[in-house]
Amino acid sequence: MCGIAGYIGEKKRIKFLLNLLKKEEYRGYDSCGIAVRREKGIFVKKNKGKITHLEEKMSEFDFSLGIAHTRWATHGFPNQINAHPQFDCKRKIFLVHNGIIENYSRLKDFLTQRGHHFISHTDTEVIPHLIEELGKREPLPKALIEVVNKLEGSFAFAFIREGEGALFLAKKGSPLNIGVLNQGFIFASDIPAMVPFTNRIVRLEDEQIAIVGKDDLKIFDFAGKEVIHKTEIVDLAPGEITKKNYAHFMLKEIFEQPRVMRNLFKFYVNDNRIEFKGLNLREDFLRRLKKIFLFACGTAFHAGYVIKYFLEKFCCLDVSIDVSSEARYRELNLTADDLVIAISQSGETADTLAAVRKAKEKGAYILAVCNVLGSTLVKESSGLLYTLAGPEIGVASTKAYTAQLFTLYLFALHLGLLRNTLQRKVFESILQELKNIPRFQEEILKRVEEIKKIAEKFSKFGCFLFLGRGINYPSSLEGALKLKEISYIPAEGYPAGEMKHGPIALIDEYRAVVCICLQDALYEKMVSNLQEIKARKGKILSILNYGDKEAVALSDEVIYLPRLKNSVLSPLVVAIPLQLFAYFVAENLGCEIDQPRNLAKSVTVE
Ligand code: F6R
Repeated sequence: MCGIAGYIGEKKRIKFLLNLLKKEEYRGYDSCGIAVRREKGIFVKKNKGKITHLEEKMSEFDFSLGIAHTRWATHGFPNQINAHPQFDCKRKIFLVHNGIIENYSRLKDFLTQRGHHFISHTDTEVIPHLIEELGKREPLPKALIEVVNKLEGSFAFAFIREGEGALFLAKKGSPLNIGVLNQGFIFASDIPAMVPFTNRIVRLEDEQIAIVGKDDLKIFDFAGKEVIHKTEIVDLAPGEITKKNYAHFMLKEIFEQPRVMRNLFKFYVNDNRIEFKGLNLREDFLRRLKKIFLFACGTAFHAGYVIKYFLEKFCCLDVSIDVSSEARYRELNLTADDLVIAISQSGETADTLAAVRKAKEKGAYILAVCNVLGSTLVKESSGLLYTLAGPEIGVASTKAYTAQLFTLYLFALHLGLLRNTLQRKVFESILQELKNIPRFQEEILKRVEEIKKIAEKFSKFGCFLFLGRGINYPSSLEGALKLKEISYIPAEGYPAGEMKHGPIALIDEYRAVVCICLQDALYEKMVSNLQEIKARKGKILSILNYGDKEAVALSDEVIYLPRLKNSVLSPLVVAIPLQLFAYFVAENLGCEIDQPRNLAKSVTVE
């Protein structure tokens, strides 16, 4: 959460810095600010709201050194005072920060006793004051080493100081990367944000400090020892992070799903054999494995939930799943014989990282299912299933979800075969159908206008229930999450069988119920639920297979899906109409789809 960015080099227009910052606005967007060096001194501007508001308030000018920040508030309201850059008493040090300083209160007391005056409610403000305080005794690089060793929590920060011709960066637990330009350097929290400007990247590691001059970059560890750094060439097309002709990133990313699935199939499947190069796991470990723990948050948790059903069915395993924020504080009966699968698009989610660290203490093997190579989760895990979805910019996750599903289906198939719990014939049938999934998804995407019209009709409802059973119960959770996060309509996902135990009380003619009622073993049970909703005048939108005869008669509107031979794969197709439905409801209500209120793309704080 929060994005930081900056530049040092030849003179550039201020627009350059703002454009760089905009590329990571999805990380937080309740307030923003910049601090840049101009001939007369350091110029600072910050405000509540988005970067475009800041831009509107500023005329163009040149600068050669500057930092910028886009915020997701943790400590203190989103307002101008709490926006970054934060500064010291003498207004000489200006600093932007992503993360949380856990011991800020103690540091604030210490600094207040030494006469420092604080004006914001942020945890961040202690850092420039600490640099100011410790900088009284020592030159800056040394003082900075002392500062980072006094900070507890997670941070990526950057600052400039009056009279210094360099950027100072430090990282521990939050992402921070440096881009090498032909002349000068940029930095940003996320690599994709820098790709339109350069593909030459230096990844700052945890517990490192960088001093970035116009022509040189020096990196030190937190003990002050210089570290040799590597410049990597990243292979990302700048087009990946533009909206192209789509109205929103979310819509573009929904439409990208067939391509992502095809790429995953090509990447992992060779001649009917599934190969995982980054698995790093011994086959005998997988054969004797008895228990898998899945940790994830939000949408990634729903992907894990689907796969729990699949693993139980085809791998005869005991699979436990928990949201990471609970797993990290629960007594996990884990041993070194168990496998932990941590699922995360960003690989930076604080709760998932904490749950993983706890499991590691118990000796468990950690397999990351992640979309960002080089992320903290990937670095801290022993094996990786890379989800290859490409950068996901829309805050609501779409293609990353189906990519997690697809990758995990492949992994579970591999595991089932290895453990002899899955017959080869079934394996081949499911694998063949996975290959066809992109075609099925495309078929649904072609009917976007039809889904749009249905969404328009349903956008007047003030409350939604999403119901599913079996492997599509998690799909109902995901459908409800998508709708609530971008349209702000209360929506709950429920296992349909639980309806009578409470949620049925909600049903009347003013409530809408989205029923996932496919032709699978639980079809008849779902139809009974539809009957019960109909009897109470609830408005039903059903997701059905073509050829349906019973559920259609009970539904007010229907979205049809192709029928799969292996209904266990249906969450991969069900996701598409649910995502489109949420998208068009939100569009109809005029909501900010790519950057919904109060959310941020990667949740790097607890
Ligand atoms: C919902 C959404 C979030 C994330 C969750 C986990 O659309 O995007 O629920 O899925 O914050 O994020 P990652 O996958 O980065 O760990």
